[in-house]
Amino acid sequence: MSTLNIDINKLNNYVKHDEIQKFQDEINTHHQAIINKTGKGNDFLGWVDLPSEISEADLIDIENTASEIRAKVDYLVVIGIGGSYLGAKAVIEALKNSFSDFQQNEETKILYAGQNLSEDYLAELLSFLNDKKFAICVISKSGTTTEPAVAFRLLKSQLEEKIGKEEAQKLIIAITDKERGALKVLANQEGYKTYVVPDDVGGRYSVLTPVGLLPIAVAGFDIRKLVKGAVEMKNTCLSSSSMETNPAALYAASRNALLQKGFDIEMLINFSPKLMYFTEWWKQLYGESEGKEGKGIFPAGANFTTDLHSMGQYIQEGRRVIFETLISVEKSHHSLLVPEDNQDLDGLNYLADKHIEYVNKMAEKGTVLAHLDGGVPNIKINIEKIDEYNLGQLIYFFELACAYSGYVLGVNPFDQPGVEAYKKNMFALLRKPGHEADSEDIYKRL
Ligand code: PA5
Repeated sequence: MSTLNIDINKLNNYVKHDEIQKFQDEINTHHQAIINKTGKGNDFLGWVDLPSEISEADLIDIENTASEIRAKVDYLVVIGIGGSYLGAKAVIEALKNSFSDFQQNEETKILYAGQNLSEDYLAELLSFLNDKKFAICVISKSGTTTEPAVAFRLLKSQLEEKIGKEEAQKLIIAITDKERGALKVLANQEGYKTYVVPDDVGGRYSVLTPVGLLPIAVAGFDIRKLVKGAVEMKNTCLSSSSMETNPAALYAASRNALLQKGFDIEMLINFSPKLMYFTEWWKQLYGESEGKEGKGIFPAGANFTTDLHSMGQYIQEGRRVIFETLISVEKSHHSLLVPEDNQDLDGLNYLADKHIEYVNKMAEKGTVLAHLDGGVPNIKINIEKIDEYNLGQLIYFFELACAYSGYVLGVNPFDQPGVEAYKKNMFALLRKPGHEADSEDIYKRL
């Protein structure tokens, strides 16, 4: 039984109960289409049963590979873009000590590449790794994406120069399609350890495959608990599409009801900096899944209280098109009290001996009410704490809700045709062989 729950009481003034409830029939239909794999994009529904299909043998294999890497190197560079790195990064950043990057310890630290084309970023990464022991995990489902391919070329050659081709081959892991793509061909040629991204799981739904699980395990986190959380959320949600018991159905219906009232922008908000990259994962999941055919809720994010001192002004008083979805975390892992001060010049003694998290919670409650009064409805998702189990629940919950929601909007939530447009222009500008005709045209437009 999952422990995550949703509170929509702070929608009252903006969306009535029956305006949410009216989506129930439609969601029942979409729920069946997802289970029976009959809806749009039905060849990409492998993620639906994925959590309970991960076998003991798969987990042991990933854990063993992770232990080997942890024993051999201090850094693992995860190379990937979009769904090929955001899930791992979201979970690792949520779970790791905020200052572990600056700590000298035995832990293998995760670095990222291939998620941009910045010469400065890559040059600085190569220079940092020059005297470090590192391994590479290159992830690309298609095996042909430019950003990770460029980064992999550089890092592979640096590793080979440092320790020799034969030793480097033992420290490179490729996660890609089971038979297609340049990465698969190279992995076969070089004999890299390889994991498969299942055919029926798209990048942004792949965090519970080796794409996410291997880097998360290398970072030292418990992938079994992550999977367990996802399995329990799956069991809760797939057993019934009723909004009474299925939180993904309730969330999907609520956000679509808000959209129909003119709330075009959803901000995923948190009061813990650890969730910053979880928001990035969520933005990709919803942005790529829903934003097509001129439709979709624009997914944005803010980290509070930090962004209350920047975006807070706009949210409170700017254009009234935003609603917020809050991930509210009940318990923190540490205990820290506001200290008493003899002089009390800052006037904080009224908080002496109160937990910092209590102050944060009051900021959270105050913010929700202030934004509500300012015209920003709020959906609250309650989780107990930030750990593997709760993140596993959140991942499955958001994935399923995204599928319901995309179907409610009438789009295929599992494709991303729009991503090709920039690539086409970039290849034409780079004069990639095969793009000659486009090159002539595009240079005239610059
Ligand atoms: O969600 C998606 O499908 C995309 O974001 C992909 O993950 C991203 O474009 C990377 O693709 P690939 O893994 O083929 O390199």
